Amino acid sequence: MNVPFLNLAAQYASLKNELLPAVEQVLASGHYVLGPNVAALEQEIARFTGTRFGVGVNSGSDALTLALRALDIGPGDEVITTPFTYIAPAESIHQMGAKIVFADIHPRTFNLDPADVARKLSDRTRAIIPVHLFGQAAQIGDFLALAAKRGIHVVEDCAQAIGASHDGKPVGSFGRIGCFSFYPTKNLGADGDGGMAVTNDEALAKKLKMLRVHGIERRYHHDLHGYNSRLDEMQAAILRVKLRHLPRWNERRNEIAARYSAGLADLPVDLPTVCALNRHVWHVYAILTDERDALAKFLADRGVPGIIYYPLPLHLQKVYEHLGYREGYLPVSEEISRRILPLPMYPELTDEQVDYVIATLRQFPFGEGE
Ligand SMILES: Cc1ncc(COP(=O)(O)O)c(C=O)c1O
Repeated sequence: MNVPFLNLAAQYASLKNELLPAVEQVLASGHYVLGPNVAALEQEIARFTGTRFGVGVNSGSDALTLALRALDIGPGDEVITTPFTYIAPAESIHQMGAKIVFADIHPRTFNLDPADVARKLSDRTRAIIPVHLFGQAAQIGDFLALAAKRGIHVVEDCAQAIGASHDGKPVGSFGRIGCFSFYPTKNLGADGDGGMAVTNDEALAKKLKMLRVHGIERRYHHDLHGYNSRLDEMQAAILRVKLRHLPRWNERRNEIAARYSAGLADLPVDLPTVCALNRHVWHVYAILTDERDALAKFLADRGVPGIIYYPLPLHLQKVYEHLGYREGYLPVSEEISRRILPLPMYPELTDEQVDYVIATLRQFPFGEGE
């Protein structure tokens, strides 16, 4: 059996009859960028995330960049974030001319560790960007408490966690701004790039809307230096179709995660942990093992290829050499990077495929290779 690591074609096949009319309607309308579908999607995502305003942008990366711009983060400021994630949050800090400060992560949730964030705070810290990694809310209450005490901002990176919640409250609704990605592989993915910033603050929403179109509120009148980060109608129409299916998809991801966890419970690997009060949406299901590379090869040789998130933490990337971090500075992130192994995870996986992954994993001769 072959179990692809991702299978977006299967998602399309299941939605073809709904997607094609939605796309055709956009093509026939003649309105292709920032039109009625974007406006409707903004309202729908705001409602879905328990916030007042949504601002559709070109990507999750842009949502983060515009969020930091809207909060006037700039040179001389420091922003704390995680090194164990995709590079976008760190990059957005750099783009503001601010200093990236990495704090370490929790060894079982892989999310930013509030205790280490507290140690990294300085007089220059202006914001914290927790990432709700792999579909699970970070320890958001602790970050909000730290931020309130210091009078600084929390910007949530929700790129991997749409639909996740903590204590019944959706991610994206806790901080000043929540940033979502609609990259195709995300739990809610467009068929191209897309993103959204959500907020409860009307003034911030207005500023974000200006920043996404070159700082204009009125055509050809520029009050700010902005960006070209518009969301197009085709992606918005596609996302509106897919949003209707997202709760069911996230439910199926939970079923698959439970099946993996039951099937692997007695193996000498560490299984992912769900924190109390968290509703996980399993963007990624990853196990930890000292024999990661051998196990990944064993699986790939048997029809279960994989992708490692994340093989090298950001503080050790060449691009951040100038920040002066060395190996050993953020030991948990470094250890997880060596031990992590994501398994296939998407709603279209069949039980038979999940069982095949489990059975194949169970054949691996743990403890014999090293
Ligand atoms: C945690 C995280 N933040 C931000 C992004 C950036 O989103 P985009 O690819 O839409 O720019 C991604 C993924 O792509 C991500 O995984």
